[in-house]
Amino acid sequence: MNKEFDVIVIGAGPGGYIAAIRAAQLGRSVACIEKWKNPAGKLSLGGTCLNVGCIPSKALLASSEAFENASRHLHDHGISVSNVKINIAQMHARKDAIVNKMTKGIEFLFRKNKVIWLKGHGSFVGKTDTGYQIKVEGEDRTELVGARNVIIATGSKARQLPFLKVDNQIIVDNEGALAFDSVPKKLAIIGAGVIGLELGSLWRRLGADVTVLESLPSFLGTADQSLAQEAAKQFEKQGLKIHLGVQISKVSVLNNTVTILYSHKNVHAQKLEADRLIISIGRAPNTNNLGLEEIGLTVNNYGFIDVDHYCRTKLPGVYAIGDIVRGPMLAHKAEDEGMLVAEVIDGQKPHINYNCIPWVIYTDPEIAWVGKTEAQLQAESRHIKIGEFPFIANGRALAMNRSNGFIKMIADADTDELLGVHIIAANASDLISEAVVAMEFRAASEDIARICHPHPSFSEVMREAALAVDKRALNI
Ligand code: FAD
Ligand code: NAI
Repeated sequence: MNKEFDVIVIGAGPGGYIAAIRAAQLGRSVACIEKWKNPAGKLSLGGTCLNVGCIPSKALLASSEAFENASRHLHDHGISVSNVKINIAQMHARKDAIVNKMTKGIEFLFRKNKVIWLKGHGSFVGKTDTGYQIKVEGEDRTELVGARNVIIATGSKARQLPFLKVDNQIIVDNEGALAFDSVPKKLAIIGAGVIGLELGSLWRRLGADVTVLESLPSFLGTADQSLAQEAAKQFEKQGLKIHLGVQISKVSVLNNTVTILYSHKNVHAQKLEADRLIISIGRAPNTNNLGLEEIGLTVNNYGFIDVDHYCRTKLPGVYAIGDIVRGPMLAHKAEDEGMLVAEVIDGQKPHINYNCIPWVIYTDPEIAWVGKTEAQLQAESRHIKIGEFPFIANGRALAMNRSNGFIKMIADADTDELLGVHIIAANASDLISEAVVAMEFRAASEDIARICHPHPSFSEVMREAALAVDKRALNI
């Protein structure tokens, strides 16, 4: 007889594993199907985020930042160090240990919450009287399982250029770019999005000569343009070369050198040679061999599974979350949807405010925002007022030698409600949380302006930006 569960989750990335744990907390019998294998050939939970995404990239970014500090910035403090070297194998070993700790941590959480991990590839086989039947193809056996509720959380994979094969040695996607065994002398990147900028910064700090080729004519189009302009200025100063409005025509590899032919500003046949090439042109939803057709579910023109505000598909009891559905491809968005679906199944009335999902780009300075950009609000003909405050006028930022950047706060001109907060600063990833809380509670800029912030701290800039909305910043 098939094993029956109240809930089956397909995929154990941040969307799926959180959904499984929350459903188990709510008393459901839960199984989670996951097939990911790490480079050592071991099955691993955690999805893209833990294995080849958020966590390993931040581990390597931290190593590269430490290297750059030691080699370039410590002398500002009167500290001399010479002959700074990086051992790449040790850097990766540190990253791998962090990934291992985190993925093993999810195995522990599954055991603690009695979530059964079904190891293998999951696909729908058909509907039954009580729900859905799913086949799990493991290494040495295939089993059939059933559930009334199924949560599809199969995530995404790197988009490819149609004419180019990624070998993950010379031409790499995120997986290869997080595993280079040496620092490339010359590194080319196609796509100046989040991955291109983070991984470009990482290898530049370690000594690579990095050139990023971007097809769009504007830089960081989804961010507020004030931040994008400041970021472009900072990255240029750091030596990251970014060419916009580029069209790639040919890529070839000969004797471990990759040659990229492209046109730029109407000049054809420009040539870039590099030791390695990262392709980071976005990600595509993962619906391969899911058997969706067996239950009458289709994907839309972009490959996503259509869902409503509660992540319900058109089929009763079938939900989809994370990178496989509309909205930003972010781990915390996937997690929130995982929690939401488990609570919907439990009959609760959870809620996600998609306008309050923060974005962070982990470059230096970091770039973070929540809510709408000035351009979006102008396009909506909103009557707005804006306050900006620079970190150069903040004592803590100066003391820490991290005074680049600013906070830009946008509020409704009539009601003063916060509509968007945009930060470019050393620790924007943490600072943005205050703005998220404020916007979730529909705070006015004056609310932030009246809250006592610790001195000296970067967070004082948040208060000053709020004061600046009403043209009454104090320290400038
Ligand atoms: P995934 O994490 O992709 O997990 C899906 C899982 O489903 C995988 O483990 C896969 O093996 C499994 N699966 C798929 N099909 C099947 C099947 N048929 N049967 C069984 N299992 C299956 N986001 C952030 O918010 N912050 C960051 O700093 C950040 N950094 C990133 C850095 C990089 C380099 C990359 C590539 C991404 C980064 N992201 C970041 C994005 C983030 O990783 C994704 O948004 C997030 O992982 C999506 O979660 P998910 O659960 O939807 O899918
Ligand atoms: P992206 O969507 O951020 O950027 C892709 C870039 O490639 C775009 O600027 C696009 O215009 C450009 N592009 C597309 N086709 C091109 C072509 N043929 N030639 C040149 N340029 C081209 O995608 P990216 O960087 O691959 O990251 C994927 C997703 O992963 C992100 O959108 C984000 O959701 C997630 N992510 C999040 C991170 C974070 O939260 N800090 C970090 C890394 C990834």
